[in-house]
Amino acid sequence: MTKQERQRRMHELDEGIRVCVRCPLHKSRTHAVPGEGPVGAEVFFIGEAPGGKEDRLGRPFVGPSGMLLNRLLETAGLKREEVYITSCVKCRPPNNRTPHTNELNICQATWLDRQIDLVDPSIIVLLGRVALQQVLKDQRSLRQIHGEVVARDGRQYFLTYHPAVAFRVPETRDSMEEDMALLKQLLATQLHAARK
Ligand code: URA
Repeated sequence: MTKQERQRRMHELDEGIRVCVRCPLHKSRTHAVPGEGPVGAEVFFIGEAPGGKEDRLGRPFVGPSGMLLNRLLETAGLKREEVYITSCVKCRPPNNRTPHTNELNICQATWLDRQIDLVDPSIIVLLGRVALQQVLKDQRSLRQIHGEVVARDGRQYFLTYHPAVAFRVPETRDSMEEDMALLKQLLATQLHAARK
């Protein structure tokens, strides 16, 4: 598929997400938040769900978690405009509660899996427990496995905390910085291998 065709399909997905009414979350949203970034991005970040500012603006990770994510991207040697960023569900849950299983499953099957296929990244960064459990069905604690890479069904996943955790548990900020330094190394090795 040409890049132009992938862009067209991504645009169609974004439009579909903005008017989606497949799960109850649409009832309380202001704006759905599709995702941002180029098709063909090498790194694809998946958070949990839009928060208040994302809901108001219709853009992912533009609130406090987004500010921290921007700094973590710098540590990983990545520019925000070169990565793809989205969340497991595209609409803000009421009072920022954790998304329910049916909401997560519907949104993954209808939108997230298709976003991943279109972007076709070399690595997917799962931000936090909800993304880890939803995408990999992995119940382990991030405390034990953050910074690890998991290969599954032809894709590579990098596991780290959700930036919001750093506001509640400040020590995780250091762990996230370390994880991003590891990610930087991993990307450098991959790029090196790809150029050989
Ligand atoms: N947290 C997320 O998981 N996604 C956002 O877009 C914002 C905060």
